[in-house]
Amino acid sequence: MLEPTDLTRHATEALRTNFGTEATVVGKAPGRVNLIGEHTDYNAGLVLPVALPHATYAAAAPRTDGVIRIATAHDPEPFISHIDQLGPEIDGWAAYVAGVLWTLREAGLATGGLDLRLESSVPFGAGLSSSASVECATAAAALGIAGRALDADVRRAVVAAGMRAETEVAKAPTGGMDQSVVTFAEEGGALLIDFDSGEHRNVPLALGERTILVTDTRVEHQLTDGGYASRRAQCEKAAADLGLRSLREATLDQVETLGDDVVRRRARHIVTEIARVEPTVDALGGGDWAAIGELFAASHASMRDDFEISVPELDLAVATAVGAGADGARMTGGGFGGSIVSILPTAAVEAVTAAIDKAFAEAGHGAPGHLIASPSAGAMFTEAMS
Ligand code: GLA
Repeated sequence: MLEPTDLTRHATEALRTNFGTEATVVGKAPGRVNLIGEHTDYNAGLVLPVALPHATYAAAAPRTDGVIRIATAHDPEPFISHIDQLGPEIDGWAAYVAGVLWTLREAGLATGGLDLRLESSVPFGAGLSSSASVECATAAAALGIAGRALDADVRRAVVAAGMRAETEVAKAPTGGMDQSVVTFAEEGGALLIDFDSGEHRNVPLALGERTILVTDTRVEHQLTDGGYASRRAQCEKAAADLGLRSLREATLDQVETLGDDVVRRRARHIVTEIARVEPTVDALGGGDWAAIGELFAASHASMRDDFEISVPELDLAVATAVGAGADGARMTGGGFGGSIVSILPTAAVEAVTAAIDKAFAEAGHGAPGHLIASPSAGAMFTEAMS
């Protein structure tokens, strides 16, 4: 089980080792797992994600000369630039970090130099928004250095800065769910976000004897490699063919009139998936685990057959989880690899993880990873202790 280790001290110590500077602030932002509502964010739809206890920690020390130095555990070479030289042309991992410093500066927030060191317990490439957690932890650190409280307006600016870094600098055409939940989530709740109205609300989760389990297939997923962008383009084509602003306005009857088989199936996933989100909120509220099972099963089948973003490892993990006692399981996130999410009796966690491990070994797949997704709070910063 991958534990959500607090890496605050680790990050401040590493900052000292890297640059010899003392952190005054540590920004923190979680990863996320989406319970339901997949690929619906960029279709003006509904989503229901939860913030993970696993997070990125960004230790930051202010600088008076405008220089930006960023170090991570993954690259021995720090990224070095100057706040006045940042722009949309930033390569590799630094796009998610320096990209946010650039977009925050563009927004008139957090405009100074700093030394930054990132540490993360969010698994990379697992479809758990490690990138949004990096973006928003960076933003929280930079805003902490700038002396700004993370009130609702500033949080909205964090979401916008993270999205701009992701779409304009990292060039991943994503929809905004990840930055929204990792910024606005409240402990103990899921976040119901409506991408038509732009509103969100906390949905307290009374899980009782139930647990949210995430299983990372370790099939690495990328949001920049074309599959995500092509799904988004097909959805936009479907809406345009129907003469609608977005698929949020489409009915199933309208979707069935679409001539192109692929575009029709993509649109069918979006319309049926949006319709599953509010019933999921109700089922969670009422502890109706059988309904959760049906909703998750329908969602997974729709992503596998109509949206075609599943892979055999995800299908195997889902089938095995349900066979071993989970109430419901489905792939989660962008797809083409990454993780599944299951809701299951807490007493069944060991049996379910063991069954998935065994099924993966028998199928010749590499060992999966598991983590418990206790619903956690969104981005924050704390004053560093020296
Ligand atoms: C990725 C994107 C999100 C969303 C999901 C699929 O996580 O970043 O915007 O589209 O995929 O639901």
